[in-house]
Amino acid sequence: MSLNRRRFLQQGGGLAAALIAGQTAGTDLLPGAALCRAPRLRKTKFVAPAGPQRQQLSALTLARFVDALPLPEIARPEGKRADPADAHRQLPYYRMSMREIEQTVHRDVKPTRFWSYGNTVPGPVLETRSGEGVWVDWGNALPTRHFLPIDHNLHGAEAGKPEVRTVVHVHGAKAPPASDGYPDAWYTPGHSRLYCYPNQQDAALLWYHDHTMGIERLNVYAGLFGSFIVRDAAEEALGLPKGEYEIPLTLFDRGFDREGQLYYPDTGDPEAPWVSEAIGDAILANGKIYPYLDVQPRAYRFRLLNASNGRSFDLSLANGQGFQQIGSDQGLLQEPAPLSNLFLAPAERADLVVDFSQYAGQNVVLKDHRLNDVMQFRVAAGKAMPLALPARLRTIERIPEASAVRTRTMTLREYADPVSGETTLLLLNGKHWHDPVTEKPELNTVEIWELVNLTEDTHPIHLHLVRFQVLDRRSFSVQEYRSSGKMVYLGQPIPPKAGETGWKDTVQAFQRSVTRIIVRFEGFTGRYLWHCHIMEHAGNDMMRPLEVLPPRKA
Ligand code: C2O
Ligand code: CU
Ligand code: CU
Repeated sequence: MSLNRRRFLQQGGGLAAALIAGQTAGTDLLPGAALCRAPRLRKTKFVAPAGPQRQQLSALTLARFVDALPLPEIARPEGKRADPADAHRQLPYYRMSMREIEQTVHRDVKPTRFWSYGNTVPGPVLETRSGEGVWVDWGNALPTRHFLPIDHNLHGAEAGKPEVRTVVHVHGAKAPPASDGYPDAWYTPGHSRLYCYPNQQDAALLWYHDHTMGIERLNVYAGLFGSFIVRDAAEEALGLPKGEYEIPLTLFDRGFDREGQLYYPDTGDPEAPWVSEAIGDAILANGKIYPYLDVQPRAYRFRLLNASNGRSFDLSLANGQGFQQIGSDQGLLQEPAPLSNLFLAPAERADLVVDFSQYAGQNVVLKDHRLNDVMQFRVAAGKAMPLALPARLRTIERIPEASAVRTRTMTLREYADPVSGETTLLLLNGKHWHDPVTEKPELNTVEIWELVNLTEDTHPIHLHLVRFQVLDRRSFSVQEYRSSGKMVYLGQPIPPKAGETGWKDTVQAFQRSVTRIIVRFEGFTGRYLWHCHIMEHAGNDMMRPLEVLPPRKA
C-alpha cells in the first residue's frame, strides 16, 4: 500500500479504502514458486456487500463524548498454587475464561458481539509484581463457530481445522516456551491451558492476546486481548501518579456495520477473504467510541497500549498541550521525554504523564493524527496540583555494539499478485513460517539485527521473550538493492526517538530503511518467534520461528 493511501486510511478513510488494489513501488511481484496461498488470482475487487448487516456504520457521524471511559476491572486470583521453581512457595492462581459477550461501544450503537477474557473488551487487567510469578489458567469457553471470515488458504487455517481455536501469548513476558503461547499450540472450546509467568523482569505494561496460527487477526479483532501490568519497588519509589490517577488506556480501531456488529473487511471473495490491512474508522478507548474522562487539575499517568490489528496512532492534545513519556514497551525510560505528539504502532506501549493542572474547568480532547477525536478529558475546576517528575527515572545501560557475537540482516518484503496488483503475501527474509528455523541465537549472547524494509510501510517488528534496544535507522536505495542486491545508504544513521531509548520489544521498522536493534537473548532456551505485529501481515506470512539454543560448551 502506498504511503499516501496509508495516510488517508489513518486519517479515517474507512474500511473499503483499505481494499483499493494497485501495485506500488514497494511491492514485489510474487514469484510463482513461493506461494503460500492457493495460486488462484483474485479477480474480485472489493464490493460493498448487500444487506443492512454489511452496511458500514460511519463512526464519524456518532455523537462525541457521551459515554464515560470504562476502567477495566482488575483480575482477582482464585487461589494459590506451588511455584514450579520452588515447591515451598505459593503463587497466585488466576482463571481467565474466553467467552462470547455483548458490549455497548457507544450510547447510540446497538450492543456488539465480542469475544472476551472476561466481561468486557479489553479484558480484565492482570496485575503482577516483578520476581513474583503467577499461574493463569486460560480457558476456552467460546462457541464452536467463528463469526469472522476465515481464509482457508492461509497457512495454519486449512479447511478441516476446527474453526474456533485459541492460544494466549503474554506480549513482552519473559516466559518459558511452554507458557509463551506458540501459535501451533492452539486448543478448542471446552479446553484450557495452565501457563506460568515467572515475571523475572522489570516493571512494565505487557499485554495478553490471542496468537492462534492462521486466525490470530480474527480472534484479536473479536476482542481477545487485555493488559498485564508488572510492578516493582523501584518504580513505586518514584512517586508517580497512582490509584485513581493511574489509568490503563487501551486504544484500538474497529469497523462496525449498521447493526452495531463488528465489520471485518474482506476481498468479497468468500474463498479467499484475506486482506492485507484491516483498518476501521471507529477508534475505541477501553472499549468505547469517543468517551470522556472526568479528571482533576493534576497529573495523571496513562498506561497506553495500541491493541489495533493494523492502525498506528499519532496522538496529541487538541489544545497544543504537551506531555511526558516516561516509559515504553519494557518499562521506564532513563529520563522523561517531553513530547507534543506520540506515534504508537500496533503492539507498542507508552507510559505517559499528562498534567491537567493548568486546565482547571476546561475540556481537553485527545486526537489521532491531529484529525480524529479519540476521547475527551473534562478537567474539574479547583485547586491546581502540578507534579514535578523526577529528572531521572532509572539507569538504562546501553548494550555495547562490540558485545554482539553476530549481525543478522533480514529483509521485510511484500509480494503482489501479478494481475490484480493486490498484496498477497509478506515475508521476513523471503521465508515462510513453516520453513526451517534460521534464527538460532545462543542463550546469553548479544546479536544485532538489521531489518531491511523494502516496502512502503512501517512494520512493527516484535521478538518474543527478549527486550532490546534500538540502535538506529538509515534510509537506503530500494531500487539499487532490488536490482543488484547492493546496500546503498541514502543518508546518515538516525538515532532512535527519545521515547525509544529505553527497553523495547516491538520496533517500528520504517519504510525504505534499515532499522538496527541490539538484543541479548536471556531467560530461557527453546522455541519462540518473531513477526510483524500488523496482524494481517503476521498471518500471511510475516512471522518466523526463533530458537534460543543452550550456550555452547567452551
Ligand atoms: Cu504481541 Cu507474537 O505477539
Ligand atoms: Cu510477544
Ligand atoms: Cu507488516
